Amino acid sequence: MRPNYLFGMRQAARQAKALQIPEIAAIEFGVAGGMGLLEMEQVAESLQAETGVRFRLYGFDLETGLPPSDDYRDLPYLWRAGFFKMDRAKLERQLKRATLIIGNVGETVLAFIERYSPPVIGFVSFDLDLYTSTKPALNLFNSAASHFLPRTFCYFDDIVGDLDEVHCEWVGELLAIREFNDAHAARKIAKINGLSWKFGAPTQWHDQIFVLHLFDHPAYKQYINERTDWQLPLPE
Ligand SMILES: C[S@@+](CC[C@H](N)C(=O)[O-])C[C@H]1O[C@@H](n2cnc3c(N)ncnc32)[C@H](O)[C@@H]1O
Repeated sequence: MRPNYLFGMRQAARQAKALQIPEIAAIEFGVAGGMGLLEMEQVAESLQAETGVRFRLYGFDLETGLPPSDDYRDLPYLWRAGFFKMDRAKLERQLKRATLIIGNVGETVLAFIERYSPPVIGFVSFDLDLYTSTKPALNLFNSAASHFLPRTFCYFDDIVGDLDEVHCEWVGELLAIREFNDAHAARKIAKINGLSWKFGAPTQWHDQIFVLHLFDHPAYKQYINERTDWQLPLPE
């Protein structure tokens, strides 16, 4: 199982459980052949057994692969129109529970909540490659706070990559994140400070996990620490 999906979805399920939310949504923006969405299904099965929290899964994609772009912010030095096409019939035969939402994410995301009535969103993977696709996908995070966990876990795929991918805050997914943060005072997408230290050794996905903090969420301040008390007395 992909450790990035396992981590983000497990942390979301643990938070949901602490907040007594029985079911949450996990979303993959950018499905391509479907390997990620099929992994998400496996992770959801395993976490449901582990935590008791149920998952509903959604995958957004154009079906026809990457759209054309000549915008430098889309890194056309890396991506080509038509990369990562979906074999929709093949994927639909293998999917057990995820819902595919086919179309341009700029349109499908706007109707998503009203059309599908998802449970509280707990984990979102962004793998649309392009700035001009990621920017409208982030409009999901303009929805009412009640549609999200107070701290919604996110994974951004296209911010590390191979040696030729030289990502920075002025292009691609990192630019979309920065612009979202600049435009929202009460919602911020931020890395988990020191995530690698919690695992002992750093690995790539630690730099790709972010959390959408909804400071305007009514439950943002609700205590969820498993400790009922914590004291640090001096030795006798
Ligand atoms: C790298 S692939 C996703 C890979 C997949 N997440 C995985 O792990 O196997 C990127 C996908 O983003 C989709 N995509 C890019 N821009 C899009 C847009 N504006 N609307 C919908 N899908 C888009 C493409 O169709 C492509 O399949």
